[in-house]
Amino acid sequence: MLKDKRILLIIGGGIAAYKSLELIRLLRKAEASVHAILTSAGQHFVTPLSVSALCEARVFTDLFDLTAEAEMGHIELSRAADLVVVAPATADLMAKLAGGLANDLASTTLLATDKAVLMAPAMNVRMWTHAATQRNLVQLIADGVLFVGPDEGPMACGEYGPGRMAEPADILQAITAALADEAVRPALVATSTTVPVPKPSPLRAESLPALTSDALQGVRVVITSGPTHEPIDPVRYIANRSSGKQGYAIARAAAAAGAEVTLISGPVQLAPPAGVEVVQVESARDMLNAVELALPAQVFIAAAAVADWRTAATAGQKIKKVPGARGPTLALVENPDILASIAKRRKDRPRLVIGFAAETEEVVTHAKTKRVRKGCDWIVANDVTPASGVMGGDLNTVHIIDNSGVESWPKLAKEEVARRLISRIGDYFAAH
Ligand code: CTP
Repeated sequence: MLKDKRILLIIGGGIAAYKSLELIRLLRKAEASVHAILTSAGQHFVTPLSVSALCEARVFTDLFDLTAEAEMGHIELSRAADLVVVAPATADLMAKLAGGLANDLASTTLLATDKAVLMAPAMNVRMWTHAATQRNLVQLIADGVLFVGPDEGPMACGEYGPGRMAEPADILQAITAALADEAVRPALVATSTTVPVPKPSPLRAESLPALTSDALQGVRVVITSGPTHEPIDPVRYIANRSSGKQGYAIARAAAAAGAEVTLISGPVQLAPPAGVEVVQVESARDMLNAVELALPAQVFIAAAAVADWRTAATAGQKIKKVPGARGPTLALVENPDILASIAKRRKDRPRLVIGFAAETEEVVTHAKTKRVRKGCDWIVANDVTPASGVMGGDLNTVHIIDNSGVESWPKLAKEEVARRLISRIGDYFAAH
């Protein structure tokens, strides 16, 4: 698969740079060719000599290296590759690319390339969770940049959390997936005539192999996501502003952690996550049926924004305006509560039932009551006031509530919220 592929590896400045040497070794073993750019910060951690010895090629370090410009300019360097890999991708390199800055060889190359870019972030946990880095992450994902990692664990700086660079073997796997994704993209776009063609960026983000681990190997997870549409007549429906992004991100993270995932999705404009069984539904009642069919499962996550009400009757034909008459009054009846009905099941109750609470005031207080009322084990509370930008946006600030208390997370990319939630579920299964 990697034989004769040309990888341009940008090595940023971080303690994880030593792992990029192992990555070069793995790439060379797979018969890929590797050209490397070593940033000036990177040179504090690994030497140009060791990098070039492993690549069996000269290392590029300086934008204004005239010999290199004469042989191969930075534009050509960026385009001659099949894939550009940044490992370690420092907070600085991510920020530069997210902001379109180009003041050295690495950042200029990243801006000039017409090839896919895969980043393996590595930084201190606080730097990773900082709002600025998370904002940059969201921007880069939207721009089509692929990510692998970071992993969670003890860090060189003595702290613990997400920020460690993914292991070279995982990066190698992500490189293989990214190259395969590039190869199938034109066909995918060309044949998507009946469904809306996803913008290239979400499709790219789709193949995010960022969260690979085996924390949920063999665990069956059922997830609801998106809004429901409750028909009024054949052309009109009641809906809400849910984009489905958080539920889809959770499905991706669960699949990447080895789970067998069924995603029951209301109508959304998102590409189906790779490796996940997706069941498309419209109404709350369809969603409940689909969830029941998908059981048994060990984990049920209700991330959908289910419409609380549907019309008491659906008109068989389009309701017409009657000149001079008052508009129709819609009689509403309550929809089944999917989360509560699964949480309260005697037979086949999943071991872990997780709900979401969409609140616009007293977020934690309301969510605590909701957890008890619905009988779920954990509830993920989020503020969905328009000012929070959560509905439809890429960031989320959540509080995880279980029977032992509340854990509040900083504002994070929805992908990162998903990753942490899946990691927390992995810990739960390890401990129970
Ligand atoms: N939920 C569900 N079925 C419904 C309504 C909600 O499964 N008919 C689930 C959602 O997927 C979410 C949780 O219940 O996991 C809470 O949803 P939310 O909209 O916050 O609460 P509601 O039950 O609608 O309560 P309220 O509107 O009073 O806040």
